[in-house]
Amino acid sequence: MRKDFLAIADYSGEQITEMLNLAIQLKKEFLSQGNKPILEGKVLAMLFNKPSLRTRISFDMAMRHLGGDALFISPDEIGLGKRESIADVARVLSGYVQVIMARVFNHKHIIELAKWANIPVINGLSDYNHPCQAMADLLTIFEHFGKLKNINITYVGDGNNVALSLMHAAAKVGAHFSIASPKGYDLSEKAIDIGTSFARKSGSRLQFLQNPHEAIKDADVIYTDTWTSMGQEQEAKKREDIFPPFQVNSKLLKEANQGAIVMHCLPAHRGQEITDEVADGPQSKIFQQAHNRLHAQKAILVQLLTKD
Ligand code: CP
Ligand code: NVA
Repeated sequence: MRKDFLAIADYSGEQITEMLNLAIQLKKEFLSQGNKPILEGKVLAMLFNKPSLRTRISFDMAMRHLGGDALFISPDEIGLGKRESIADVARVLSGYVQVIMARVFNHKHIIELAKWANIPVINGLSDYNHPCQAMADLLTIFEHFGKLKNINITYVGDGNNVALSLMHAAAKVGAHFSIASPKGYDLSEKAIDIGTSFARKSGSRLQFLQNPHEAIKDADVIYTDTWTSMGQEQEAKKREDIFPPFQVNSKLLKEANQGAIVMHCLPAHRGQEITDEVADGPQSKIFQQAHNRLHAQKAILVQLLTKD
């Protein structure tokens, strides 16, 4: 396994499945007798350059449940790359804690952090991807369908960080992935090329579309995320004009498979990318999905801290 968890792309389908199996085992254990303190004496430093509810609390609780500890470091405290260079922060923290999780604006910053840290670094979201989210997403889909292979995942909306990790995750495990995004808001060609190479190996089918009605045909999973990600706030108004045809509402949901589930990484902008009716409806898995961040990340932490 690798030193860091920076991207789904860095892991093989088998390694992802192994981590998912570990997540299932740790979840079962947690819900019955509680987790064993396998991370006793280990401390996670959590660096946040952007706000968070799920990532922050689920990582903190994951460490506590496993007998370890977590330190929250706010954007103003160390001023990553401003008060001090990323390389220096990485080398200093490497002598104090056993693992770092960081949420950054620029993906290059997480790469830089991992390069200089001699302890594992976990990507807690960048402008490029959100691999921890994708692990929780796969876990949720597996729990519902009992498999990942040949499940049709449809993402409707912005081709953003969450969409990218989900596409790569689907392509690694042999799930099919289709995305409908407005022109100009699609996934990058580079990300598509990488995903296509994974799909060739796993047998997954990838489709990149602009029509949500076409993308949602035969969907088992309908996934959406905010139209405006953190760091793009100045584009919010423009995006609000462009994205409404990509709203996940009951009318669109009816075009998917009957047993389809609805997913959203949260935070949701109800009335924009998703309606209340769908987010709170019987097909919605959004809270199970959010809770699965805890279990998926325990597996990532255990994998990085206890396995060779
Ligand atoms: N989905 C997710 O990463 O949520 P937070 O931004 O609250 O961490
Ligand atoms: N795409 C969103 C995800 C938030 C968890 C963002 O980057 O703001």
